[in-house]
Amino acid sequence: MARLLLFGGKGGVGKTTTSTSTAVGLADSGLKVLLVSSDPAHSTSDSLGVQLSSSPTEVEGVSGLWGLELDPEARISDHIPKLTDTLGPLMGGEDPDLNASEMVLPGLDEAMAFDELLKHLENPDWDVIVFDTAPTGHTLRFLALPEIIEKWADKIIKMHRLTGGLRAMMFGSKDGEKMRDELEKFRRRVLHVRRILCKPDVTRFTLVTIPEKMGVNETIRAHESLAEFKLPVSGCVINRMTPDLDHDFIRTRRKNEALNVKSLESQLPDLHLHEVELKDTDIHGLESLRSISKELHGEISISNGLGPFSIGLGLEVHRGTWSDGDDVLLHLPGIVRDDLSLRSESGVVYVGINSREHPVPFSRPAKASEVNAKLENDVLKLTFPPE
Ligand SMILES: Nc1ncnc2c1ncn2[C@@H]1O[C@H](COP(=O)(O)OP(=O)(O)OP(=O)(O)O)[C@@H](O)[C@H]1O
Ligand SMILES: [Mg+2]
Repeated sequence: MARLLLFGGKGGVGKTTTSTSTAVGLADSGLKVLLVSSDPAHSTSDSLGVQLSSSPTEVEGVSGLWGLELDPEARISDHIPKLTDTLGPLMGGEDPDLNASEMVLPGLDEAMAFDELLKHLENPDWDVIVFDTAPTGHTLRFLALPEIIEKWADKIIKMHRLTGGLRAMMFGSKDGEKMRDELEKFRRRVLHVRRILCKPDVTRFTLVTIPEKMGVNETIRAHESLAEFKLPVSGCVINRMTPDLDHDFIRTRRKNEALNVKSLESQLPDLHLHEVELKDTDIHGLESLRSISKELHGEISISNGLGPFSIGLGLEVHRGTWSDGDDVLLHLPGIVRDDLSLRSESGVVYVGINSREHPVPFSRPAKASEVNAKLENDVLKLTFPPE
């Protein structure tokens, strides 16, 4: 499973610039990187100077980098809104915790974005996925969804028992069950996203901010809410630091900025701070992105062996898949047995992770029934029959 690097912070502080630079730097160092953005304004395309779409597009000029702009609106599965539309008015009055708008709203679109992200994270092709998150204070509201869905699913069962004829009128007899199954699958996937986001060997958050009081306060709040969900925050980029120039106005600004940085340092002493200066032009195109990457991470170099390797951000990465004779090993942190399945078709073995299938790269045709699967310490070991 790939590494996931998330960049978050308030509007306009430089999330796209720092995440895109990081992705370019990592790809330049030899990793296979997918840069994902959920910003409907397509700023990642603008930043790279390359038109991206909702499927991975190779970025010209950076070998190993693909970009993807999510369209969460388009991805909200049919079942979820249908379910809410139909059940909302019936259930809303009964339970103050569960009114119709609550059911649709608490982070469903973000959940869909993260669910899509998970699909790519599970794809053994990628080494690192860099996610430029949307500038909302609620990016992580969706983490509470599994519990909401649980409550919701109970209501549906109750309704099945209570409403008899009405149910048949509304759903036909089987549709309610089908919706419940859909919800259960979705709930499991969100739970899995939550497990993955909380694993420091997979996920790291980088907060991005500017050296102003408001920026610092916002960062402290964001850090608090990430800590509440036990999400690993590894660093903070302080972007747009005023450069050292000989002018009173500049000196005063720099003095204030230094105080704000100091205040951030003293309130969040464990956070690694990286400063990036304000440049004399916007940051667009590969050349400026590469120079920001150097400023942020230095020269990133990777050792190219099998198994885990380190990248310049103090992170250790497992390549998605590696092989060891007749064994194929997949690094799948946070996976539980029940989320896995194995199947083969025309000699290709597929691993299903939360109902999504990925072909296992193996040199010979094989059947799933002949493959021995063992999950241990987050590594799924598939032993293929000898030739
Ligand atoms: N250090 C810098 N020096 C000069 N310009 C910068 C710097 N960092 C970012 N910019 C410019 O500032 C603008 C906003 O940056 P960016 O798009 O990265 O912010 P963002 O946090 O992604 O914004 P949004 O919240 O809208 O997604 C861009 O035009 C970018 O080129
Ligand atoms: Mg942006």
